[in-house]
Amino acid sequence: MQEKLLQSTYKEFTDITDLPAQYSKLLVRAKDCLTNSWSPYSDYKVGAAVLLDNGQVLAGANQENAAYPMCLCAERVALGAVASQFPGVPPVAMAITTAKGSEPAAPCGACRQVLAEHEYRFKQPITIILQAQSGVIYVFDSVKPLLPFSFHL
Ligand code: THU
Repeated sequence: MQEKLLQSTYKEFTDITDLPAQYSKLLVRAKDCLTNSWSPYSDYKVGAAVLLDNGQVLAGANQENAAYPMCLCAERVALGAVASQFPGVPPVAMAITTAKGSEPAAPCGACRQVLAEHEYRFKQPITIILQAQSGVIYVFDSVKPLLPFSFHL
């Protein structure tokens, strides 16, 4: 038996002005999209914005339903729009934000799996930028550190 070590690295920024401009703009787009959240059941708004390889940005917000399991996460709403409107264009970065709290909210497991599928499909990493409405910012260079051993056929 051999015990193995799993390590993840990410960057922490305390000031948004230290972020590369394309990422701070992406965060602003994600925050703008919070107003499109339909979340009367959880009262928890999430916004996500995706930067594509061609410079386009598409955003999404969580969409809830009285039948709770039908709720759609912001990340998958945004990625669904990307895959439907720009099917051949790789997503290169996603900013995710929430209206509550001062700690960044990380994507749920299902959204990580969908993000991993997009990395796998285009063979290139997606930078993940996380921040609540204000406060500390986390930047991951890929989905891999958020979802090691992701499932693939
Ligand atoms: N939610 C997201 O939009 N993204 C996630 O990664 C986790 C959760 C939404 C779903 C639901 O509308 C609300 O947050 C509370 O779970």
